[in-house]
Amino acid sequence: MTQETYLPHDAEHRIDRVVVATSNPGKVREFAEALASLGWQLEPLPKDVEMPEETGSSYQENASLKACTIAARLGLPALADDSGLEVDALDGQPGIYSARFGNCANDTERNTYLLDKLRDQSDRRAHFHSVVILAYPDGDLECYEGTVSGTLLEGPRGQDGFGYDPLFVPDGDTRTFAEMSVEEKRPVSHRGLALKQLLEAHGG
Ligand code: IMP
Repeated sequence: MTQETYLPHDAEHRIDRVVVATSNPGKVREFAEALASLGWQLEPLPKDVEMPEETGSSYQENASLKACTIAARLGLPALADDSGLEVDALDGQPGIYSARFGNCANDTERNTYLLDKLRDQSDRRAHFHSVVILAYPDGDLECYEGTVSGTLLEGPRGQDGFGYDPLFVPDGDTRTFAEMSVEEKRPVSHRGLALKQLLEAHGG
């Protein structure tokens, strides 16, 4: 993908409806909360439309693949995020493979798998990264990124959120993401920081 494909928002791209190209309800909640002030109608992915396979080798490639495929298929702007957890002691793993880490069946198993890998490991530093793409049916797209650094606990804490949230304490806080509401997570989270730029670009 070339630099010039990252077009800034312009008046030609008036948005009323946007499809949220994800099957992850946790992400849908975060998108809806963060973008409420724009007044866009955020629509879930229709049940009969499948998400494309994530065959890219970077967050950007996977986020573009998801947003562009859905925008072209439905003829509506589409919003997608590709994100992951990068653990220092694991040389940045699982990264873009975070959703499939250890071939685990669900988030709880994935968290246990990660904790096992970090047993006896004193370096608990980790970073969440998110690339958000807003794609238009004509092929134009906008790209936004966010990162948050923090520490991984030795056991889960909290009931909210999704994924690795119960293990991750962002720098500057003592709570895990799973101990925060969606409103509290947004200003510090990788996805919230990416969506803040989108909001600013669209006058929200
Ligand atoms: P994908 O972007 O759908 O490929 O999956 C991203 C995966 O990274 C999720 O399934 C989670 O395992 C993890 N992840 C990304 N963002 C978050 C977050 O905000 N909290 C917890 N886990 C996350």
